[in-house]
Amino acid sequence: MSNICSCPATERSRLAPAPIAKILRQALAEPGLIDAEDSAALFHDLSFMAERCRAAQRAFPENALHTLAIKANPLVPALRRAAHLGMGMEAASLVELHLALAAGVAPSRIVFDSPVKTEAELALALEKGVHINADSLEELARIARLRQARASESVVGLRVNPQIGIGVIAQTSVAGGDSKFGAPVNEQRAAIIAAFESYPWLSALHVHIGSQGCKLPLLVSGVSAVFALAQEINRRWAAPRIRVFDVGGGLPVAYRDDETPPTVAEYAQALRRAMPELFTPSWRLITEFGRFIQANAGWVASRIEYVKAGAQPTLVAHVGADLFLRRCYRPEDWHHDLFLTDGAGRIKTGPTRRYTVAGPLCFAGDVLARQLALPEAQPGDFLIIRDAGAYTLSMWSRYNSRQIPKVIGYDGDGFTLLRRRESLTELAAFWGA
Ligand SMILES: Cc1ncc(COP(=O)(O)O)c(C=O)c1O
Repeated sequence: MSNICSCPATERSRLAPAPIAKILRQALAEPGLIDAEDSAALFHDLSFMAERCRAAQRAFPENALHTLAIKANPLVPALRRAAHLGMGMEAASLVELHLALAAGVAPSRIVFDSPVKTEAELALALEKGVHINADSLEELARIARLRQARASESVVGLRVNPQIGIGVIAQTSVAGGDSKFGAPVNEQRAAIIAAFESYPWLSALHVHIGSQGCKLPLLVSGVSAVFALAQEINRRWAAPRIRVFDVGGGLPVAYRDDETPPTVAEYAQALRRAMPELFTPSWRLITEFGRFIQANAGWVASRIEYVKAGAQPTLVAHVGADLFLRRCYRPEDWHHDLFLTDGAGRIKTGPTRRYTVAGPLCFAGDVLARQLALPEAQPGDFLIIRDAGAYTLSMWSRYNSRQIPKVIGYDGDGFTLLRRRESLTELAAFWGA
């Protein structure tokens, strides 16, 4: 299966309308892949995802551990592909920890970052030798107690909030003055240093600035602030105490053609310029990219069920706020490019008119776009939603109990089912039937 775009393999333009429509036509022609019941399907370009993993690996030192933030897209077959490329995993819950193990990732290459780890979860992580980032000094004290009762090879770090300010999307910014995450550096600097005195096994620091909406200078200044603290702590001991430094995720991606976020190489270069020592072999650098690896790789094709006439004609599609929760609830922060193909997957062109693009759910805010100029639409056409590979399926809403669509992966070898469509029985069972 060839991609018709000759642009670089990690560029968003690889998944421009023409290549997407070509894949859709191939999928429609593949016997048994898209059935009549598939009113919508998610697609994931696994080659693109792999290229983004490789780009991260190339940009940072060879001994860096790149963990893929599972929360962005937890599909295990895709995680398994990433693991084969040498990616570790970042897990934000017990189940994500199990997904990482199911994807074949060695415990020492899993970073456990949940903000609410129970004693049982911490004990399991310690016993398995998973890297744990404590979210607070209180959690460190709990880990200390649990360590007394069991031997562990876990690297343990502490998440520090550098309190350097927020990006353009407040709700995904976590390095402001009052973030719920991490130990706040301004209020707890002395206590953080004291924790290293108290806990000889504490050997790492962790920082994450935000997800999307954080510009390069904000990312670099947040990471630099916590790295300066790591160096300050190291200077207090004859042999450095901290050798593992986790810079988190947060590399933004483009959701529009005119957006030019930094490449991962530019991000690494900016970090290296600010912190040359972090890029020397005496440090083990960890990254936790999610959106950068997954977002642009995914797209959705939904049948248009109705075209409702009126002053403001409305297209009714089969995905809305269930899959695009952020877009529907905070449209000013989140955008997806949309386009139409006909029922055979040919891009629609011609004179446009303004449409409301609505989802299938029973509430007024279930709208993907308003006043959007699209060519004349008709039932049976496909609505294509781009850049849907991160923080979409992982945020699926159960409202109105619609079945999760199937997810189709593809690469040079063809199509593979990453997740089958949820059955009526599975969904009914979810509600106790
Ligand atoms: C601790 C942590 N690490 C990594 C990530 C991944 O961020 P992104 O997908 O923007 O790379 C997140 C996202 O919220 C996070 O909270």
